[in-house]
Amino acid sequence: MPKQNFPRRISDPRAELRALHDIGKALSSAFDLHTTLHKITETTAAVMRLDSCSIYLWDKKQNALVLKASTGLSPKAFNVGKLALGEGITGAALQSGRSVAVRDAANDPRFKYIPGTDEENYKSLAAVPLISQGNKIGAMNVQTKRLHHWTRPEIDLLELIGELAAGALERAELLDGLQRQVNELSTLAQVSKTITEPIFLDEMLAVICEMAAQIMNAKGTALLLFDEENEELTLRAAHGLEREHAAISPIDVATSLTGRAIQSGEPVSVRDLQNEPSYKNRALAKREGLHSFLSMPVSVRGKVIGAFNCYLNRVHEFTPQETELFATLANQTAVALENANLMMNSMLVREMHHRIKNNLQTVAMLLRMQLRDADKLNAGVLLQQTINRILSIAAVHEALSQDGFRVMGVRDLIQRAAFMAHQTMAHPEKEISLRVEGEDIRLPSQPATTMTMAVNELIQNALEHGFENVARGAVTVTLKTNKAHYVIQVQDDGAGLPKHFSKQDSLGLRIVDELAQDLRGEFKIANRRGKRGTLATLKIPKIKVTGDE
Ligand SMILES: Nc1ncnc2c1ncn2[C@@H]1O[C@H](COP(=O)(O)OP(=O)(O)OP(=O)(O)O)[C@@H](O)[C@H]1O
Ligand SMILES: [Mg+2]
Repeated sequence: MPKQNFPRRISDPRAELRALHDIGKALSSAFDLHTTLHKITETTAAVMRLDSCSIYLWDKKQNALVLKASTGLSPKAFNVGKLALGEGITGAALQSGRSVAVRDAANDPRFKYIPGTDEENYKSLAAVPLISQGNKIGAMNVQTKRLHHWTRPEIDLLELIGELAAGALERAELLDGLQRQVNELSTLAQVSKTITEPIFLDEMLAVICEMAAQIMNAKGTALLLFDEENEELTLRAAHGLEREHAAISPIDVATSLTGRAIQSGEPVSVRDLQNEPSYKNRALAKREGLHSFLSMPVSVRGKVIGAFNCYLNRVHEFTPQETELFATLANQTAVALENANLMMNSMLVREMHHRIKNNLQTVAMLLRMQLRDADKLNAGVLLQQTINRILSIAAVHEALSQDGFRVMGVRDLIQRAAFMAHQTMAHPEKEISLRVEGEDIRLPSQPATTMTMAVNELIQNALEHGFENVARGAVTVTLKTNKAHYVIQVQDDGAGLPKHFSKQDSLGLRIVDELAQDLRGEFKIANRRGKRGTLATLKIPKIKVTGDE
């Protein structure tokens, strides 16, 4: 705007300062985009005593300025009213990067009437570009209903407000983007039934670290979790930092800068890590070019659970607004952690109940089925068999509770079940060896349990029926994986199957058949070819495991 067109008028510096103070207060109290937009327009219109203040944001995708907030224009035009770069007086302000003030706007050749805005009520217009660190954010204008002569101090103030607003809006836009991404990831995690691993949490935290680095204009960020028992901090997620940071984790709470933030519950900032005597990794900071540092405690329901750190590649004094912004990010992180934690727990609890119910049903089914044969067998034998089955379920259960509910090694489960069977069933005077061989099969806990229970029946049979009239023998379980299947074989060098054998005749093998069908696989049992003994084979189509290590 050519300055000479406006007579300089002595302004009231106190009024101007008060106005700036009001704007500053409005900006620091708002963080989301919507609130920030409305606070800026309302406060500007109020402190400058003008009839309307409007903000247009630059939309990269649409390549246009889009009306987002206004105190005087019709709200119906929000998000609809658009100007191209250079179009209208407001578009001209953004294109030139300079303020434009016009007394008789409607008769200015640059004026562009936007339908639906009720803009015809206004006469004079002044517009300023909103540019932050070279980025086009948008443009802001003020309008009056009566013809108004814009003064230099008014334009100066408007330009100053524009500068402040541009920075605040840029931050708010980034933060809204972060909020949206976190929400998307949380929803994704919630709808995903397969989430038994904290894989989504990792993604979420990585996004948060990356966005935080962007927002804070930082070289790197790191999230550390507090281990109360060991008084240590462990690196949980990071962005933009060297791998060595992972190597120095865990760090001691008592002697570290981050520990100080944890213990005081207050942010800790350092002007220059490279010259900070209490920073232990000065050498690393030098190599990486890290200077200013801010550590923000992260708390969930009043309890500090970790800290969020920010590393700059320049020396910088963090302003109260930046500190506040980083605190907001830390809270966001806490919410993500808390959500993930709650979700994991409730999934765990549900799965646990489900599994216990299943096991109780299995026990009930076993007892019911045995009841039918009860008159043929003596009670002692019957009880022993039932006890063995329940014990083997318990053994598998124990393994599950140790490993948590995730992908597990079937070989280890079978080994545990085999050991139990051997303990309770093998005749003490007989020398029966029992080996589990071959490669491990990694499966989610549900199919892993099913497979183990089937193998358990086969092992029990070998021990029970294979060696009735012999003093020594061997039972071998072999695990194999080929292109499309898992193949598990249980063989013994015992007596072999009886004459007129049918696998549908009795309970144990019917259970095996059913379990194999549950896994969409097949089960076969026959005498070994050319050798003494029995060979039982389970052939199960491969199960896709997500998130396995
Ligand atoms: N490894 C084996 N060696 C010899 N005979 C076997 C072997 N496995 C199974 N059999 C024969 O097949 C029959 C059926 O086995 P199945 O497991 O269905 O019943 P079970 O072991 O007799 O009783 P339960 O229902 O308690 O398991 C057995 O009774 C036994 O005669
Ligand atoms: Mg049996």
